[in-house]
Amino acid sequence: MPDILFEPIQFRNLTVKNRIWRSNISGRFDNYDGSGNQARINWELKFARNGVGAIVSSFVAVNIRGRILPNYATIDRDARIPFWRELGKRVHEHDCRFIMQLSHGGRQRDVGGIEFETGLSSTDKPEPLNGFPCERMTLDQIKSTIEDFAQGARRAREAGLDGVELHSANGYLFTQFLSSAINDREDEYGGSLENRARFLLDVIRAIRREAGNDFHLQIKLSATEYNNALTPFEKPGNTIEDSVLVAKWAEEAGVDAIVVSSGSSFPHPKNPPGDFPTEEAAKTFDTMISSGSRTRLNYAVLTNDLGAKLFRASWIRARGEVIEGINLDDARRIKHAVGIPVLCTGGFQTASVIRHAIENGDCDAVTIARPLIANNDLVKQFAAGKDIPGRPCTYCNKCLVNVIENPLGCYEQSRYPSREAMVAEILSVFDGR
Ligand SMILES: Cc1cc2nc3c(=O)[nH]c(=O)nc-3n(C[C@H](O)[C@H](O)[C@H](O)COP(=O)(O)O)c2cc1C
Ligand code: SF4
Repeated sequence: MPDILFEPIQFRNLTVKNRIWRSNISGRFDNYDGSGNQARINWELKFARNGVGAIVSSFVAVNIRGRILPNYATIDRDARIPFWRELGKRVHEHDCRFIMQLSHGGRQRDVGGIEFETGLSSTDKPEPLNGFPCERMTLDQIKSTIEDFAQGARRAREAGLDGVELHSANGYLFTQFLSSAINDREDEYGGSLENRARFLLDVIRAIRREAGNDFHLQIKLSATEYNNALTPFEKPGNTIEDSVLVAKWAEEAGVDAIVVSSGSSFPHPKNPPGDFPTEEAAKTFDTMISSGSRTRLNYAVLTNDLGAKLFRASWIRARGEVIEGINLDDARRIKHAVGIPVLCTGGFQTASVIRHAIENGDCDAVTIARPLIANNDLVKQFAAGKDIPGRPCTYCNKCLVNVIENPLGCYEQSRYPSREAMVAEILSVFDGR
């Protein structure tokens, strides 16, 4: 019997060999200024050679003010093209596709770096959780940011990559425009859902103009925002009904696929779904203390026994029971409303669960992040008949809280024979193992 997991998936301008994709993740492996280096190539090859159909890059800023962390490669100028060309070429050698995630953080970031002080957003209200300051974008700034996305897509195409994804999820700039809880503008980019979606749709049309109608373009959407998950005094934000409309408009504007995520911030209790490892977070959060007006208070909470316990409890309560396939209900709603393929992210690491989701018509493929960090060869394990990997990802989110300071990798020591083995695996990205 053919296995749907290993059947190709066809888009308007792209075919991918299977239904298991590497979702957006990378570490602070690149150079401070946004130029890429060998460690990033080594990182992507860990997944390409182990059988994922496609890799969607981590957050790639289209301009420096849209960056969320130094040491993440950018696509803000033509001089970046040769690096991405080399990366794409190396990934293609493994019959794996490479899609670049075009991104802008807006008011949400982790560590800004020396090149800018405040982010640009739809609003001038600081981000509520960490208090990152921002400026409300003028119409000229909106216009030039739309152009930066178009140029980013043109550069990705010139680099020979297989497509681009707009990071229109998880609280970054696109969410800040789309969200009924965040966007407080009174011009044509605020107010009604049509107006709030205008920035995203303008970017889609600009990309089609600059990079062509035959270049794969997908968007990642937070289908439900749960904006008040941790902050009950905030508004809830966009609902699945809003996002179904946005997905339909995006399809009409020329998008080839939708990736379904959730949450109006990053991280968020629903994304990545799992635990909040307060002890581990307290070791790295100091990196962010000077980033926002609330970061000092958050650090105090994390380093206080009772504070940390209460925070973790409210995180887990807001997450809910489901981890694997947490966004499938929303994916199904969107899939029923559009004619283009729908992908889903969130907790997938059991072959039978993924198979059922696709056969049931909830989504056409899945994108996986942490379970592939834990088991780079997850796809090969599925192909060999395993339903779940021998040492599965525990969803502890230690990788997440480490990434702001340390190289990305699996930090769950219980999965390794020793701490030394864990550190060796994490550092292997620098020598290409
Ligand atoms: C360390 C880390 C970094 C991430 N970086 C990004 C990113 O740059 N862009 C993005 O869209 N999602 C990012 N994500 C979210 C993942 O791509 C994925 O959608 C999410 O973790 C849920 O999938 P999972 O349960 O398979 O991990 C990141 C997640 C983690 C854990
Ligand atoms: S640290 Fe490892 S086990 Fe924990 S969530 Fe990340 S990949 Fe999974």
